[in-house]
Parts: sequence; structure tokens; C-alpha cells
Amino acid sequence: MNILLLGSGGREHALAWKLRQSKLCSNLFIAPGNAGSSEYGTNVAIGINDFEAVAECCLLNQIDMVVVGPEEPLVNGIYDFLKAHTQLANLVIAGPSGKAAQLEGSKAFSKHFMQRHGIPTARYAEFTRDTFEGGKQYLDKHTLPIVLKADGLAAGKGVVIATTHEEALQTFESMIIDKQFGAASAKVVVEEFLQGIELSLFVLTDGKDYKIIGHAKDYKRIGEGDTGLNTGGMGCVSPVPFADAAFLKKVEEKVVIPTIKGLQSEGLVYFGFIFIGLMNNNGEPQVIEYNCRMGDPETEVVLPRLKNDLVELFVAMHNGTLKNTVIDFEERAVATIMAVSGGYPGEYIKGMAIEGLDEQLPEDVLLFHAGTIHKNGKVVTNGGRVLAVSAYGENLKDAVEKSKSALGRINFEGMYFRNDIGFEFE
Ligand code: AMP
Ligand code: GLY
Repeated sequence: MNILLLGSGGREHALAWKLRQSKLCSNLFIAPGNAGSSEYGTNVAIGINDFEAVAECCLLNQIDMVVVGPEEPLVNGIYDFLKAHTQLANLVIAGPSGKAAQLEGSKAFSKHFMQRHGIPTARYAEFTRDTFEGGKQYLDKHTLPIVLKADGLAAGKGVVIATTHEEALQTFESMIIDKQFGAASAKVVVEEFLQGIELSLFVLTDGKDYKIIGHAKDYKRIGEGDTGLNTGGMGCVSPVPFADAAFLKKVEEKVVIPTIKGLQSEGLVYFGFIFIGLMNNNGEPQVIEYNCRMGDPETEVVLPRLKNDLVELFVAMHNGTLKNTVIDFEERAVATIMAVSGGYPGEYIKGMAIEGLDEQLPEDVLLFHAGTIHKNGKVVTNGGRVLAVSAYGENLKDAVEKSKSALGRINFEGMYFRNDIGFEFE
């Protein structure tokens, strides 16, 4: 099969690595890809939201399967666009329809969905400019902390956890009145703060059947000890010790099954990954959010632990035979640590030469590029999150140590990474 993968981050480099291993994969194209993904296929310089160019690329290269990495094209309806193309109707697409991608594209949509299907989640209310005054009164009476969420996509910056009523009111005003996130914050979801530890769970579904393909814990804060600003994710571990069989069974019964039944009963066309962000509150799962894609850097630990052929899984998803497949996990633990540009998640400089990329890595270490690009024959930084180093280990501590040791051989000006990924599990 000829496969086109959309995206350019660490998640996509890991997906490219995994897709390339499949005996079903003839040619792999990555649009636009990064300096690492070209190791596994051909980078194509087209934008992920340029659907016409994506369709042209599919026709030109006789693409059989499109794998969509990030959420934006999905929420913008790439599935529907490609399916409506007369010459592309048979394409296998890993990614849901635009309507179903609203599970990530609109926080209000996903809260309504959870409510309709009895899926445990934080209590909430939603407000717009028309209900702004009522919203202020609602915030006044709300217990602290208060979680405020811009309804639409806001590049991971649309959630604020306010610790005072003043901060909540200010955030509320800047989102709705000052349009801090443009149309994405015209509506705001206000919800109660959930206590507990977070877990990212990954499901592959055809909208009727499903398979759980892995789970991970992401470290979102920039600083050690989970301090400082939120980032896209600074590292991940899998498996997660508290996600034992009893907890995962509860998650499956109370969250995964009702979610899939909900998709089916509402006729939401869903072929692809569901990333369920969960809170484990004293052994009880509650859903924080749905994402319509894999996570980054979760993919960099989940795929190395997934033994199945990913292309085969996508074909099964397309053919409606997922229930006949058995998911096989690697026994060893995997940790990944992100090396980021100095200043990230604030301002940072791009174009720094990366040294140490030619070093021979141990066979149980995988280096995934994120924000990298080729320039004048060199690999240079091209984003906040620059690369992720994943390592297998006998346990999490061992995996983290191997990742850190490999990171010690890589350098670029301003490089930073968290030394304490997995700290609470040692
Ligand atoms: P999101 O941008 O939707 O991924 O949310 C960012 C982060 O905010 C989540 O990963 C959680 O750490 C946190 N968060 C979101 N909603 C809640 C909530 N209701 N209670 C506690 N933390 C939350
Ligand atoms: N690591 C979190 C995300 O991909 O949204």
C-alpha cells in the first residue's frame, strides 16, 4: 500500500517509524514531515490544511491510505473532503469525520456528548457573550479552583485553572469579551476542578468496535516537580503503575464502551484514534477531554509498546474486522523525554544546529525528531519541542535512565529537558 501521513511532529516521526515496519507498506509519504521522517519515507512540502493539495498528492502517488496526525485538519473536515472526492472514495483514512472530530474541536460538544451517554466527567456550565452577566454570577458562587476552557481549538492554550475568583473573572472576560482565542473562545465552558492523577488512554475504533492500543502518563509542565507553564508535553511513561487491570477495566466499562456506543447511536462516522484524557480520582475514572488523534509525546511511548502491525490495524478498522484482532503489547516499559528550545513554551529561537545526531544509539533507544529541519546540509531546530528520545527498559526507572543517557550525547544551544520524568513512580 502507498501511505500518506500528515503532520510534522514527534508523533508523526514515531508514526512513520511504525508504518514503515509494516509488510503492507510499499511507499510512505509524509506531509510536510521533519528532518527525521525522511529517514522512513518521502517528505512532501504541502500544508496539512491544504486539502486540495492533499487530494492531488493522493492521486499523483496512488495513495491507498491516509493517516492524519494532528487535530486541525480533522476538525476542518479532511475525512469528509477526501471521501467526497470521486477518485478517492476507497481510501483508507485513519481519522474521524469532521462532525465526530468535534469531540475535540468543541469542548461544549464533548461535554454534551458525555452527558447524553452517562460518561463520568466534571460538572460544567457554558456561556457566551449573551449570557456573560449570568456567567459572572455563576463564577462568583463557584468553589475554587475554577477551570475555564475556550470551546474551540486553541493550540493547547485554551484551558485556565483559576485559583482565585478575580483570576476566573479576568480570564472569563478576556476569553469572551476580548476574544483572546478569536472564535474559539466565543463560548466558554466553566467546570469543576477534578482531583487525582491523569492518564492518557488510546483507542482505535471504526465507530462500532474498538481496541485499546495503549496508555501513558504525560508530563505537561515545563519545570521539574510539575511546576511552571503548561507545554505540549515534556515526556511520557508507559505502562503507568496506577493503571492496573482493575482501573483499566473500570475505564473500559464506564468510559470506553459508552463512548463507542454513543458514536454509533448518534451516527457519528469515526475511523481512527480516540485519545481519552482521564483523571483517576481515588480509583474512579473521570473524563477530562477527548482528542480525535494520538497524543504527542504519548505516541512516542505507546507505539514502541504496540507489537501489532499498525497498517494491518488500520485495514481492519476500515474493513470492520477490528474485533477479530488481538492487541499484543511489549512487556518492557518505555519512557520518552522531550528536548526543547530554551525559552519554550514562551519565546525561543529557531535554527540552532543539533549536534550528536550521528552517534550510534543503543538498539533499545529510539530518537524521534519533532521541531527539526534540514538547512544547508545540517539538521537545525525548527520548533519549541525539538526531539524526543524514547527508551525501553526493564522498568520505568531503567527506561528513563537510558533516555537521559542518550540525551546526554545530543546538544543544541539552549537545549533543555526535564530530568525527573516518571519521578513519582521510582
Ligand atoms: P487540555 O488543554 O484540554 O488538554 O487541558 C489541559 C490540562 O488542564 C489537562 O491536561 C489537565 O491537566 C487540566 N485540566 C483540564 N480540565 C480539568 C479539570 N476539570 N480538573 C482538573 N484539571 C483539568
Ligand atoms: N500530550 C498531549 C496532547 O497531545 O494533547
